[in-house]
Amino acid sequence: MNDKLIIFDTTLRDGEQSPGAAMTKDEKVRIARQLERLGVDVIEAGFAVASPGDAESIRSIAGIIKNSTVCSLARANERDVRAAGEAIKPAASGRIHTFIATSPIHMEKKLRMQPDQVVEAAVKAVRLALEYTDDVEFSAEDAVRSDMDFLCRVFDEVIKAGAKTLNVPDTVGYSIPALWGERMRQLIERVPNSDKVIWSTHCHNDLGMAVANSLSAVMNGARQVECTINGLGERAGNAALEEVVMAVKTRRDIFTCDSRIDTTQIVPTSRLVSQITGYPVQPNKAIVGANAFSHESGIHQDGVLKHRETYEIMRAEDVGWGANKLTLGKLSGRNAFRTRLHELGIVLESEEAVNMAFARFKDLADKKREIFDEDLQALVAVDGSIDTCDRFKLVSLKVCSETGETPHAYIVLSDGGLELRADEFGGGPVDAAFRAIEKMVGSGSTLLLYSVNNITTGTDAQGEVTVRLSRNGRIVNGQGADTDIVIASAKAYLNALNKLFGAEERAHPQV
Ligand code: KIV
Ligand code: ZN
Repeated sequence: MNDKLIIFDTTLRDGEQSPGAAMTKDEKVRIARQLERLGVDVIEAGFAVASPGDAESIRSIAGIIKNSTVCSLARANERDVRAAGEAIKPAASGRIHTFIATSPIHMEKKLRMQPDQVVEAAVKAVRLALEYTDDVEFSAEDAVRSDMDFLCRVFDEVIKAGAKTLNVPDTVGYSIPALWGERMRQLIERVPNSDKVIWSTHCHNDLGMAVANSLSAVMNGARQVECTINGLGERAGNAALEEVVMAVKTRRDIFTCDSRIDTTQIVPTSRLVSQITGYPVQPNKAIVGANAFSHESGIHQDGVLKHRETYEIMRAEDVGWGANKLTLGKLSGRNAFRTRLHELGIVLESEEAVNMAFARFKDLADKKREIFDEDLQALVAVDGSIDTCDRFKLVSLKVCSETGETPHAYIVLSDGGLELRADEFGGGPVDAAFRAIEKMVGSGSTLLLYSVNNITTGTDAQGEVTVRLSRNGRIVNGQGADTDIVIASAKAYLNALNKLFGAEERAHPQV
């Protein structure tokens, strides 16, 4: 019997720390439901003390999710731990994940604390967390640059205090696989009662080794991996869940553990996270990239046709590729629409939201002959128009683009119900549309990123546009989808503005 490998997903917390990836409560709930379908053991739903909105998102997720543990992060202080404890209260199974930095550089320069004070704070936080739940995890932030003797001391003390999971983070993505595995092996060997707890690894990808380091830790005794969908996360990101899970599953000859992940849900989860956060997946990304299972060269194609395993070590359908069914068409009714959304795990909370989504579906079916699952997911995941509370909404758009002429856009939008109109010229139709919107809104934001991806194939496919805006140090991503990419672009720009104007102040756990 293989050991159990616990999959701890932190897409909603560490993943959300990526620039512009901040999500609304509804978006987080949608992702949490999909993570539950995927079969993750622990969902780190956020950092409760960051803001009232963050705490509310965790509380909602805790109230809905039944088959995964719901966790909140907390720094090792009373306010954070109490906020986390309150937020996870509705959970069928709730965890508090408390942490403090243990490396000399972090203790001295960031915390301005002596090592003894750090040990004391860690122990106190774990004890307090136990008043809310018996499932308490402790992380030694920047373990990679921490002194080994001190790390052993901290872990020894938090085990005595009652922590059940000990997480060893490579916070800055500095390690290499051989050293990271060795660190895990030594900790398990040296810390008293190490067999009474679960050892966990949490790796960042600054040197491109987050997955390799995580797997090395697993080979040396770690039985929990902290990871994110598509490797989303701070800077270069975290270890990618799909890569860790598939490596362990595919190399059963090497790993003596396995996860309970339903791998056929990997691609749908990847899509959902990408659509909601506005972080596209690169085509050559392992497992979930569009090219991950396509064979371009003639020799490879010939080999695969003769015997699939000549060039394929995994089956595309096992990770959820090819499950994209042609689902609905122009004549499909409301019930069929609602049933398919339900099968895809999409729950629209109100009747009004269903009505709006259905109207958008009918609209799309008029423009696009075949509607796939991805189109339906985009319909509800991309752009805020399902959310009736949005301040800015696109009413109409007209662009004029002609060889030898300067492109011109004319836009009508609703600002909290008030209709505004403007027209502008630009370098291209999208530029003209953005200028016209700025003329009305005057956000003064800077455009950091503009990208277009097709949701399905074909020239009638919907274009999915991501716009990243920055203003006064705040960064947001906006998404829009439409068969007309200028309209998709305008929707994405307005979606970003809605987030920019609606965002609340939030604390960052590691600053
Ligand atoms: O990278 C890190 O150290 C973290 C901790 C909060 C676990 O995200
Ligand atoms: Zn991290």
